[in-house]
Amino acid sequence: MAWDVARDAEEKQLAEKKRQIKLAAHIHVTGHHVTAWLHPRSQIDAGRNAKHYMEMAQTAERGKFDLMFLADAPAIREGNMKALRRWPQYNTHLEPLTIFSAMAAVTEHIGFVATASTTFMEPYNLARFFASLDHISEGRAGWNVVTTANPNAAANFGKDELMSHAERYEKAHEYVSVVKGLWDSWDDDAFPRDRETGIYFDPDKMHRLNHKGKFLSVAGPLNVERPPQGHPLIVQAGTSEDGRNLASTIADMVFMQEMSLDSAKRIYKDIKERVVKFGRQPEDLLITPGMAVIVCKTADEAKRQHDFLLSKIHPEVGLEIIRTQMNNVDMSMLDPDKPFPKELIPTDDSTHSRRTRELLAQNPGTVREMYERMSGARTSHMLVGDPIQVADRLQEWHEERGADGFIIQPAYLPGGLDDFVDLVVPELQRRGIYRTEYEGKTMRENLGLKRPKSVYAK
Ligand SMILES: Cc1cc2nc3c(=O)[nH]c(=O)nc-3n(C[C@H](O)[C@H](O)[C@H](O)COP(=O)(O)O)c2cc1C
Repeated sequence: MAWDVARDAEEKQLAEKKRQIKLAAHIHVTGHHVTAWLHPRSQIDAGRNAKHYMEMAQTAERGKFDLMFLADAPAIREGNMKALRRWPQYNTHLEPLTIFSAMAAVTEHIGFVATASTTFMEPYNLARFFASLDHISEGRAGWNVVTTANPNAAANFGKDELMSHAERYEKAHEYVSVVKGLWDSWDDDAFPRDRETGIYFDPDKMHRLNHKGKFLSVAGPLNVERPPQGHPLIVQAGTSEDGRNLASTIADMVFMQEMSLDSAKRIYKDIKERVVKFGRQPEDLLITPGMAVIVCKTADEAKRQHDFLLSKIHPEVGLEIIRTQMNNVDMSMLDPDKPFPKELIPTDDSTHSRRTRELLAQNPGTVREMYERMSGARTSHMLVGDPIQVADRLQEWHEERGADGFIIQPAYLPGGLDDFVDLVVPELQRRGIYRTEYEGKTMRENLGLKRPKSVYAK
């Protein structure tokens, strides 16, 4: 075949190729459901068990997932300890960058997105850790940029209280630009390592940041070479006004949690418009809602598993879930079988408060119904069904532009991830909307994202 005919055929094939779903596996210790640890298919000591994480990385890679995602906060979750002793996910788990280094060693393709705080880590340390993970994994590291809303974290870092929401976000903008500047400390070709000339590195290709800003003062350069991806992937979670502006300017991916397709579509459109307003292309930022999933061979079986988990929620835990989603206001006096009191509905702009208002507007119900609804993965959309039903919903959200992909949040781990990979992945592949092989080598290549140029590039 002549080259131009072959090229035309290839171009036609590419044009016809369906838009592909991106998938992340959000690994939350024993699982995302509050009672996950009571399920027989969860790993009961997951929070200290490296083997559990390494095996899940291999499972997710078998399912051709783009990445694994780990949430984090530099503090335990305080609150009603009588309730929290039954809800362990937040109070014992491994530090994300450390465990990802072990996971990188037993996988080849899957990416690793670790959460780290712009409020409680020095940017030099953070830039160095993520650059190192990107080298260790040969281009598979990503940073979920969070500003940390957990008030207990402040006391672990010599602070009496958290900065305000607005100030945390203002600092986050400065922080991310410092980290990117540090990642660019060395040009890609700054290390000739030439035994003939005896020159290992070229000082003319080294850049000192010398940053002095409102919040940070960092000289640089970094003592790690430019990461294989240029910049590790940047993910942002938090969809308040400030959060969306941060995502639209600095992020490659947004982790959102929306309970309905309508609100996901609204936010998807809003964020893509902001991206363009900030001078980027819409496809430069992927939007990936969290999806809490229980999938079994039959819908009846999936419902039985869900009912089992719901039946195990102690009412004290239920009220504690509501407290954490509502600015930590004490809810322990509420009667689970009465409607939620209107005067306690939060009015502020934070993501959690907005979603709580939407949840109550959709389904006022009792306090118990409310915490059951939030028990799967906080306020992510919940999918309980057989593989066809789950694939239908994912396809619908994707095709209707509520999502470019999904952060899959299995109810119990590792069982729920095994089920997703064995049951839903083949169905998505059969529909031609999900890869059968990894396309690239780095996480950015697999996600179809550009390798960023150095801030010093001419
Ligand atoms: C989906 C989602 C995931 C988040 N994950 C984390 C996390 O792992 N660690 C953390 O400290 N904060 C996390 N946050 C909190 C955000 O970084 C932010 O501090 C908080 O949501 C308040 O900002 P917002 O009002 O813009 O949402 C998350 C927020 C959302 C919405």
